[in-house]
Amino acid sequence: MADSDELRGRLAALETELVHIPSLDPRGLEAAEVRLLGRKQGALTEILKLLPGLPPDQRRTVGGEANRLKQVLEAAVVARKAELAQAATAAAARGLDLTMPGRLRHGGGVHPVTTVVEEIVAIFHGLGFARAGGPEAETEWYNFGALNFPPDHPAMDLHDTLYLDIPDRRGPAERRRNRSSGVASDFERRDLSDRREREQGRWLLRTHTSPVQIRVLQQEPPPVRVVIPGWVYRKDTFDASHAPVFAQIEGLAVDEGITFVDLKATLSHFAREFFGARTSVRFRPSFFPFTEPSAEMDVSCGVCGGKGCPACKGTGWMEILGAGMVHPTVLANCGVDPERYTGFAFGMGPGRIALNRYGIPDIRLLYEGDMRFLQQFGLRAPGELA
Ligand code: PHE
Repeated sequence: MADSDELRGRLAALETELVHIPSLDPRGLEAAEVRLLGRKQGALTEILKLLPGLPPDQRRTVGGEANRLKQVLEAAVVARKAELAQAATAAAARGLDLTMPGRLRHGGGVHPVTTVVEEIVAIFHGLGFARAGGPEAETEWYNFGALNFPPDHPAMDLHDTLYLDIPDRRGPAERRRNRSSGVASDFERRDLSDRREREQGRWLLRTHTSPVQIRVLQQEPPPVRVVIPGWVYRKDTFDASHAPVFAQIEGLAVDEGITFVDLKATLSHFAREFFGARTSVRFRPSFFPFTEPSAEMDVSCGVCGGKGCPACKGTGWMEILGAGMVHPTVLANCGVDPERYTGFAFGMGPGRIALNRYGIPDIRLLYEGDMRFLQQFGLRAPGELA
Protein backbone atom coordinates (compact mmCIF):
# COMPACT_ATOMS: atom_id res chain seq x y z
CA MET A 1 0.00 0.00 0.00
CA ALA A 2 1.37 3.38 -0.98
CA ASP A 3 1.67 6.03 1.65
CA SER A 4 0.14 9.34 0.68
CA ASP A 5 2.44 11.31 3.01
CA GLU A 6 5.46 9.68 1.46
CA LEU A 7 4.20 10.48 -2.03
CA ARG A 8 3.52 14.09 -1.05
CA GLY A 9 7.06 14.31 0.31
CA ARG A 10 8.46 12.98 -2.93
CA LEU A 11 6.38 15.46 -4.93
CA ALA A 12 7.62 18.34 -2.78
CA ALA A 13 11.23 17.18 -3.22
CA LEU A 14 10.65 16.96 -6.93
CA GLU A 15 9.40 20.56 -7.00
CA THR A 16 12.71 21.77 -5.52
CA GLU A 17 14.38 20.15 -8.52
CA LEU A 18 12.93 23.00 -10.59
CA VAL A 19 15.80 25.31 -9.70
CA HIS A 20 18.30 22.70 -10.88
CA ILE A 21 17.01 22.56 -14.43
CA PRO A 22 20.01 24.05 -16.29
CA SER A 23 19.33 26.89 -18.69
CA LEU A 24 22.23 27.33 -21.15
CA ASP A 25 23.36 23.73 -21.27
CA PRO A 26 21.60 21.75 -23.98
CA ARG A 27 22.78 18.34 -22.79
CA GLY A 28 22.04 19.08 -19.12
CA LEU A 29 18.56 20.26 -20.04
CA GLU A 30 17.83 17.13 -22.00
CA ALA A 31 19.05 14.95 -19.13
CA ALA A 32 16.91 16.86 -16.60
CA GLU A 33 13.85 16.48 -18.80
CA VAL A 34 14.38 12.72 -18.95
CA ARG A 35 15.13 12.45 -15.25
CA LEU A 36 12.05 14.40 -14.11
CA LEU A 37 9.46 13.85 -16.82
CA GLY A 38 10.70 10.78 -18.71
CA ARG A 39 7.75 8.54 -19.58
CA LYS A 40 9.44 5.30 -18.58
CA GLN A 41 11.57 6.09 -15.54
CA GLY A 42 11.14 9.78 -14.90
CA ALA A 43 10.72 10.76 -11.24
CA LEU A 44 7.18 12.01 -11.76
CA THR A 45 6.19 8.91 -13.71
CA GLU A 46 7.46 6.76 -10.84
CA ILE A 47 5.19 8.66 -8.45
CA LEU A 48 2.17 8.46 -10.79
CA LYS A 49 2.67 4.71 -11.04
CA LEU A 50 2.08 4.46 -7.29
CA LEU A 51 -1.16 6.46 -7.28
CA PRO A 52 -3.51 3.49 -7.86
CA GLY A 53 -2.28 2.08 -4.53
CA LEU A 54 -3.75 5.00 -2.58
CA PRO A 55 -7.23 5.06 -1.10
CA PRO A 56 -9.63 6.86 -3.54
CA ASP A 57 -9.90 10.22 -1.69
CA GLN A 58 -6.15 10.49 -1.14
CA ARG A 59 -5.55 9.34 -4.72
CA ARG A 60 -7.55 12.36 -5.94
CA THR A 61 -5.68 14.98 -3.86
CA VAL A 62 -2.21 13.51 -4.46
CA GLY A 63 -3.09 12.98 -8.14
CA GLY A 64 -4.17 16.63 -8.45
CA GLU A 65 -0.91 17.71 -6.81
CA ALA A 66 1.09 15.50 -9.18
CA ASN A 67 -0.69 16.95 -12.24
CA ARG A 68 0.00 20.50 -11.10
CA LEU A 69 3.69 19.67 -10.63
CA LYS A 70 3.79 18.02 -14.04
CA GLN A 71 2.53 21.22 -15.69
CA VAL A 72 5.00 23.37 -13.77
CA LEU A 73 7.92 21.13 -14.74
CA GLU A 74 6.87 20.93 -18.38
CA ALA A 75 6.49 24.73 -18.57
CA ALA A 76 9.95 25.16 -17.04
CA VAL A 77 11.53 22.84 -19.63
CA VAL A 78 9.79 24.68 -22.50
CA ALA A 79 11.00 28.05 -21.15
CA ARG A 80 14.59 26.80 -20.82
CA LYS A 81 14.53 25.46 -24.38
CA ALA A 82 13.39 28.86 -25.67
CA GLU A 83 16.18 30.60 -23.72
CA LEU A 84 18.68 28.19 -25.19
CA ALA A 85 17.51 28.77 -28.78
CA GLN A 86 17.69 32.56 -28.32
CA ALA A 87 21.18 32.38 -26.84
CA ALA A 88 22.38 30.19 -29.72
CA THR A 89 21.11 32.70 -32.31
CA ALA A 90 22.81 35.57 -30.48
CA ALA A 91 26.09 33.65 -30.26
CA ALA A 92 26.02 32.88 -33.97
CA ALA A 93 25.44 36.56 -34.77
CA ARG A 94 28.25 37.64 -32.45
CA GLY A 95 30.86 34.99 -33.00
CA LEU A 96 32.54 33.09 -35.80
CA ASP A 97 31.50 29.68 -36.89
CA LEU A 98 34.91 28.31 -37.75
CA THR A 99 33.47 25.26 -39.42
CA MET A 100 31.93 27.39 -42.20
CA PRO A 101 33.82 27.62 -45.52
CA GLY A 102 35.31 31.08 -46.18
CA ARG A 103 33.72 33.50 -48.60
CA LEU A 104 35.69 34.62 -51.66
CA ARG A 105 36.43 38.34 -51.45
CA HIS A 106 37.50 40.41 -54.41
CA GLY A 107 40.13 42.96 -53.46
CA GLY A 108 40.19 46.19 -55.48
CA GLY A 109 43.08 46.95 -57.79
CA VAL A 110 44.58 49.96 -59.51
CA HIS A 111 44.66 50.01 -63.31
CA PRO A 112 48.24 50.23 -64.67
CA VAL A 113 47.44 53.46 -66.56
CA THR A 114 46.04 55.02 -63.36
CA THR A 115 49.19 53.97 -61.50
CA VAL A 116 51.38 55.66 -64.11
CA VAL A 117 49.20 58.82 -64.15
CA GLU A 118 49.29 59.14 -60.37
CA GLU A 119 53.07 58.67 -60.21
CA ILE A 120 53.64 61.31 -62.90
CA VAL A 121 51.27 63.79 -61.24
CA ALA A 122 53.04 63.18 -57.89
CA ILE A 123 56.49 63.92 -59.37
CA PHE A 124 55.28 67.22 -60.85
CA HIS A 125 53.46 67.99 -57.62
CA GLY A 126 56.88 67.89 -55.95
CA LEU A 127 57.99 70.61 -58.41
CA GLY A 128 55.06 72.88 -57.52
CA PHE A 129 52.60 71.84 -60.25
CA ALA A 130 48.92 71.64 -59.26
CA ARG A 131 46.42 69.26 -60.90
CA ALA A 132 43.87 70.75 -63.28
CA GLY A 133 41.14 69.40 -65.57
CA GLY A 134 38.83 70.41 -68.39
CA PRO A 135 35.90 69.18 -70.51
CA GLU A 136 36.18 66.30 -72.98
CA ALA A 137 33.60 67.88 -75.30
CA GLU A 138 35.24 70.99 -76.70
CA THR A 139 34.79 73.49 -79.47
CA GLU A 140 37.05 73.86 -82.49
CA TRP A 141 38.23 77.14 -81.00
CA TYR A 142 39.59 75.57 -77.79
CA ASN A 143 40.92 72.40 -79.41
CA PHE A 144 42.54 74.07 -82.46
CA GLY A 145 41.99 77.80 -83.04
CA ALA A 146 43.20 79.18 -79.72
CA LEU A 147 46.18 76.83 -79.98
CA ASN A 148 47.30 78.53 -83.18
CA PHE A 149 46.33 75.76 -85.61
CA PRO A 150 45.80 77.37 -89.04
CA PRO A 151 42.17 76.99 -90.23
CA ASP A 152 43.07 74.33 -92.80
CA HIS A 153 45.28 72.21 -90.54
CA PRO A 154 45.05 68.49 -91.44
CA ALA A 155 44.44 67.55 -87.78
CA MET A 156 40.98 69.12 -88.12
CA ASP A 157 40.16 66.68 -90.88
CA LEU A 158 37.15 64.42 -90.39
CA HIS A 159 39.60 61.54 -90.61
CA ASP A 160 41.23 62.39 -87.28
CA THR A 161 38.68 64.27 -85.23
CA LEU A 162 35.36 63.05 -83.84
CA TYR A 163 32.88 65.90 -84.33
CA LEU A 164 29.73 66.05 -82.24
CA ASP A 165 26.39 66.64 -83.90
CA ILE A 166 25.01 69.30 -81.55
CA PRO A 167 22.59 71.82 -83.13
CA ASP A 168 23.13 74.57 -80.54
CA ARG A 169 26.87 74.87 -80.28
CA ARG A 170 26.90 77.02 -77.16
CA GLY A 171 27.17 75.17 -73.85
CA PRO A 172 24.44 75.59 -71.20
CA ALA A 173 26.62 77.90 -69.07
CA GLU A 174 27.23 80.18 -72.01
CA ARG A 175 23.52 80.31 -72.92
CA ARG A 176 22.70 81.26 -69.34
CA ARG A 177 25.37 83.95 -69.30
CA ASN A 178 24.03 85.53 -72.49
CA ARG A 179 20.43 85.43 -71.30
CA SER A 180 21.15 87.08 -67.96
CA SER A 181 23.36 89.87 -69.33
CA GLY A 182 21.41 93.02 -68.47
CA VAL A 183 23.65 95.44 -70.33
CA ALA A 184 23.36 94.71 -74.04
CA SER A 185 20.09 95.15 -75.92
CA ASP A 186 18.38 92.04 -77.30
CA PHE A 187 19.72 92.80 -80.71
CA GLU A 188 23.29 93.37 -79.51
CA ARG A 189 23.10 90.27 -77.37
CA ARG A 190 22.08 88.06 -80.27
CA ASP A 191 24.83 89.58 -82.39
CA LEU A 192 27.38 88.95 -79.65
CA SER A 193 26.43 85.32 -79.07
CA ASP A 194 26.21 84.65 -82.80
CA ARG A 195 29.71 85.93 -83.24
CA ARG A 196 30.92 83.93 -80.27
CA GLU A 197 29.24 80.86 -81.75
CA ARG A 198 30.89 81.39 -85.10
CA GLU A 199 34.27 81.77 -83.42
CA GLN A 200 33.80 78.65 -81.33
CA GLY A 201 33.09 76.54 -84.41
CA ARG A 202 31.80 72.99 -84.20
CA TRP A 203 31.65 70.79 -81.10
CA LEU A 204 34.08 67.88 -81.00
CA LEU A 205 35.70 65.40 -78.64
CA ARG A 206 39.07 66.89 -77.70
CA THR A 207 41.93 65.29 -79.61
CA HIS A 208 44.48 66.28 -76.94
CA THR A 209 44.57 67.81 -73.46
CA SER A 210 46.14 71.05 -74.79
CA PRO A 211 42.77 72.96 -74.88
CA VAL A 212 42.91 72.88 -71.07
CA GLN A 213 46.03 75.11 -71.35
CA ILE A 214 43.69 77.76 -72.77
CA ARG A 215 41.01 77.25 -70.13
CA VAL A 216 43.53 77.44 -67.27
CA LEU A 217 45.18 80.62 -68.63
CA GLN A 218 41.77 82.24 -69.16
CA GLN A 219 40.87 81.51 -65.56
CA GLU A 220 43.98 82.44 -63.61
CA PRO A 221 46.75 84.94 -64.25
CA PRO A 222 50.40 83.77 -64.24
CA PRO A 223 52.34 82.41 -62.47
CA VAL A 224 50.70 79.13 -63.52
CA ARG A 225 52.06 75.63 -63.03
CA VAL A 226 49.64 72.75 -63.75
CA VAL A 227 49.52 69.14 -64.88
CA ILE A 228 46.33 68.00 -66.58
CA PRO A 229 45.57 64.28 -66.86
CA GLY A 230 42.59 63.33 -69.01
CA TRP A 231 41.02 61.28 -71.80
CA VAL A 232 41.41 62.28 -75.43
CA TYR A 233 39.73 60.98 -78.58
CA ARG A 234 40.92 60.28 -82.11
CA LYS A 235 39.18 58.68 -85.02
CA ASP A 236 41.51 55.67 -85.07
CA THR A 237 40.71 52.01 -85.57
CA PHE A 238 41.32 50.09 -82.35
CA ASP A 239 44.44 48.01 -83.10
CA ALA A 240 47.60 46.88 -81.29
CA SER A 241 49.10 50.39 -81.25
CA HIS A 242 46.07 52.73 -81.60
CA ALA A 243 43.11 53.35 -79.32
CA PRO A 244 40.23 55.72 -80.19
CA VAL A 245 40.24 56.89 -76.57
CA PHE A 246 43.45 57.19 -74.60
CA ALA A 247 44.98 59.03 -71.66
CA GLN A 248 47.20 62.09 -71.91
CA ILE A 249 48.92 64.29 -69.35
CA GLU A 250 49.42 67.92 -70.27
CA GLY A 251 51.85 70.18 -68.45
CA LEU A 252 51.98 73.99 -68.46
CA ALA A 253 54.23 76.51 -66.71
CA VAL A 254 53.84 80.24 -67.43
CA ASP A 255 55.66 82.99 -65.54
CA GLU A 256 58.09 85.85 -66.08
CA GLY A 257 61.51 84.72 -67.26
CA ILE A 258 60.79 81.06 -68.07
CA THR A 259 63.24 79.75 -70.71
CA PHE A 260 63.96 76.57 -72.63
CA VAL A 261 66.48 75.71 -69.89
CA ASP A 262 63.59 75.42 -67.43
CA LEU A 263 61.79 73.10 -69.85
CA LYS A 264 64.84 70.85 -70.27
CA ALA A 265 65.70 70.80 -66.56
CA THR A 266 62.12 70.08 -65.47
CA LEU A 267 61.54 67.28 -67.97
CA SER A 268 64.99 65.72 -67.40
CA HIS A 269 64.33 65.68 -63.66
CA PHE A 270 60.95 64.06 -64.28
CA ALA A 271 62.52 61.36 -66.49
CA ARG A 272 65.11 60.43 -63.88
CA GLU A 273 62.50 60.37 -61.12
CA PHE A 274 60.09 58.23 -63.10
CA PHE A 275 62.38 55.92 -65.08
CA GLY A 276 65.36 55.77 -62.67
CA ALA A 277 68.45 57.86 -61.85
CA ARG A 278 70.56 56.30 -64.63
CA THR A 279 68.12 57.28 -67.39
CA SER A 280 69.52 59.45 -70.19
CA VAL A 281 67.36 61.90 -72.09
CA ARG A 282 67.64 63.58 -75.45
CA PHE A 283 65.65 66.34 -77.11
CA ARG A 284 64.92 66.33 -80.84
CA PRO A 285 63.50 69.31 -82.74
CA SER A 286 59.83 68.92 -83.61
CA PHE A 287 56.80 70.99 -84.56
CA PHE A 288 53.51 71.87 -82.88
CA PRO A 289 51.45 74.94 -83.86
CA PHE A 290 51.12 75.99 -80.20
CA THR A 291 54.80 75.84 -79.19
CA GLU A 292 57.89 77.53 -80.64
CA PRO A 293 60.48 76.12 -80.54
CA SER A 294 59.09 72.59 -80.21
CA ALA A 295 60.82 69.36 -79.22
CA GLU A 296 60.29 65.71 -78.57
CA MET A 297 61.97 64.04 -75.63
CA ASP A 298 63.33 60.50 -75.71
CA VAL A 299 64.55 58.48 -72.73
CA SER A 300 67.08 55.65 -72.87
CA CYS A 301 65.25 52.32 -73.24
CA GLY A 302 64.51 50.87 -69.82
CA VAL A 303 64.47 47.30 -71.17
CA CYS A 304 68.00 47.20 -72.69
CA GLY A 305 69.52 50.25 -71.03
CA GLY A 306 70.13 51.89 -74.42
CA LYS A 307 71.89 49.05 -76.25
CA GLY A 308 68.97 48.37 -78.57
CA CYS A 309 66.30 45.69 -78.24
CA PRO A 310 62.88 44.80 -79.71
CA ALA A 311 61.12 47.08 -77.15
CA CYS A 312 62.90 50.17 -78.53
CA LYS A 313 63.03 48.75 -82.07
CA GLY A 314 66.82 48.59 -81.84
CA THR A 315 67.28 52.34 -81.35
CA GLY A 316 68.06 52.34 -77.62
CA TRP A 317 65.58 55.23 -77.15
CA MET A 318 61.90 55.58 -76.35
CA GLU A 319 59.90 58.64 -77.34
CA ILE A 320 58.09 59.90 -74.26
CA LEU A 321 56.63 63.34 -74.89
CA GLY A 322 56.17 66.42 -77.04
CA ALA A 323 57.03 69.82 -75.61
CA GLY A 324 57.99 73.38 -76.39
CA MET A 325 57.87 77.04 -75.40
CA VAL A 326 54.27 78.31 -75.40
CA HIS A 327 53.69 80.24 -78.66
CA PRO A 328 53.23 84.01 -78.05
CA THR A 329 49.99 83.89 -80.07
CA VAL A 330 48.58 81.29 -77.64
CA LEU A 331 49.37 83.53 -74.66
CA ALA A 332 47.78 86.50 -76.41
CA ASN A 333 44.67 84.40 -77.21
CA CYS A 334 44.21 83.87 -73.47
CA GLY A 335 44.72 87.52 -72.55
CA VAL A 336 48.25 86.92 -71.23
CA ASP A 337 50.84 89.52 -72.28
CA PRO A 338 53.50 87.69 -74.36
CA GLU A 339 55.93 90.59 -73.89
CA ARG A 340 55.94 90.01 -70.16
CA TYR A 341 55.36 86.28 -69.79
CA THR A 342 56.87 83.14 -71.29
CA GLY A 343 56.18 79.49 -70.59
CA PHE A 344 56.67 75.89 -71.56
CA ALA A 345 54.18 73.11 -72.19
CA PHE A 346 54.42 69.35 -72.68
CA GLY A 347 52.14 66.44 -73.41
CA MET A 348 52.66 62.72 -72.89
CA GLY A 349 50.76 59.46 -73.14
CA PRO A 350 50.69 57.50 -69.86
CA GLY A 351 49.14 54.53 -71.71
CA ARG A 352 52.19 54.23 -73.93
CA ILE A 353 54.46 54.63 -70.91
CA ALA A 354 52.55 51.83 -69.13
CA LEU A 355 53.01 49.54 -72.18
CA ASN A 356 56.74 50.12 -72.02
CA ARG A 357 57.09 49.84 -68.28
CA TYR A 358 55.13 46.60 -67.94
CA GLY A 359 56.14 45.09 -71.29
CA ILE A 360 52.53 44.92 -72.54
CA PRO A 361 52.49 44.05 -76.26
CA ASP A 362 49.03 45.35 -77.26
CA ILE A 363 47.35 48.63 -76.25
CA ARG A 364 43.91 46.98 -76.44
CA LEU A 365 44.77 44.99 -73.30
CA LEU A 366 44.83 48.27 -71.36
CA TYR A 367 41.29 49.27 -72.23
CA GLU A 368 39.31 46.04 -72.57
CA GLY A 369 38.75 45.46 -68.84
CA ASP A 370 39.62 41.75 -68.97
CA MET A 371 39.93 40.56 -65.36
CA ARG A 372 42.59 37.99 -66.25
CA PHE A 373 44.79 40.83 -67.46
CA LEU A 374 43.93 43.33 -64.71
CA GLN A 375 44.48 40.78 -61.94
CA GLN A 376 48.20 40.87 -62.74
CA PHE A 377 48.33 44.50 -61.62
CA GLY A 378 47.57 44.45 -57.94
CA LEU A 379 44.14 42.83 -57.62
CA ARG A 380 44.84 41.35 -54.23
CA ALA A 381 44.18 37.81 -53.07
CA PRO A 382 41.32 37.31 -50.56
CA GLY A 383 42.29 38.49 -47.09
CA GLU A 384 45.61 39.96 -48.20
CA LEU A 385 46.30 43.42 -46.86
CA ALA A 386 47.43 46.32 -48.99
N1 PHE B 1 49.14 68.13 -77.69
C1 PHE B 1 50.28 67.46 -78.28
C2 PHE B 1 49.81 66.09 -78.83
O1 PHE B 1 48.74 65.67 -78.54
C3 PHE B 1 51.37 67.24 -77.29
C4 PHE B 1 51.99 68.52 -76.82
C5 PHE B 1 51.50 69.16 -75.70
C6 PHE B 1 53.09 69.07 -77.46
C7 PHE B 1 52.07 70.34 -75.25
C8 PHE B 1 53.68 70.22 -77.03
C9 PHE B 1 53.18 70.86 -75.92
O2 PHE B 1 50.53 65.46 -79.57
